[in-house]
Amino acid sequence: MLTFEAAFPEQYDDCVKLMMDEAGDYLRGTLKLMQISVDEFNHLLRTVGRLYAIYDDKQMAGFYWIEEREKVLHLHALLLKKHFQGKGIGTQTLNMLASKYKGRLTTIELGVHESNEAAIRMYERNGFSTVRQLEDLKFRIMQKDLSSADALATGKDN
Ligand SMILES: CC(C)(COP(=O)(O)OP(=O)(O)OC[C@H]1O[C@@H](n2cnc3c(N)ncnc32)[C@H](O)[C@@H]1OP(=O)(O)O)[C@@H](O)C(=O)NCCC(=O)NCCS
Repeated sequence: MLTFEAAFPEQYDDCVKLMMDEAGDYLRGTLKLMQISVDEFNHLLRTVGRLYAIYDDKQMAGFYWIEEREKVLHLHALLLKKHFQGKGIGTQTLNMLASKYKGRLTTIELGVHESNEAAIRMYERNGFSTVRQLEDLKFRIMQKDLSSADALATGKDN
């Protein structure tokens, strides 16, 4: 069973390490293009929005980082340790967020690097579509509408 808990202060460094392990190939380049140092990124993670840890039967599986801005939930990061990938945890986490915020917020928005085809496939399968491309960063911005009747009826685990 999946559970989600606000991250402890000492888990923030684990999250940055996991990000660098799982997405470092483009994350370093993206931060450079955005002129954000790793220290500044660490600071953003601690001060913007909220970071949650994802547990699969009490084992720490990964993290998600969210921020509410007006009616939009920005999903700044969703990442799982290797061993926990490909088991439907990403899909279940997105479904949990959709059901938690539906009614209060209208949209979930995220940015994903063009090279991350598996993640893009998973987001598309879960009702996200591309709303714009950031050509210089090679990122696409994807959104899921939470106001439609089928907002919760997507993804494998439903
Ligand atoms: C991208 C990421 C969040 C997706 O989460 P996930 O839990 O691995 O995704 P899911 O398991 O829900 O779906 C992914 C794959 O597993 C398969 N799958 C889904 N449910 C499954 C289940 N219950 N059992 C086995 N496989 C399953 C899907 O078919 C899919 O395969 P495909 O894309 O090759 O067709 C995760 O893989 C990850 O953390 N990757 C590294 C970091 C990253 O890229 N984060 C996204 C940055 S935007």
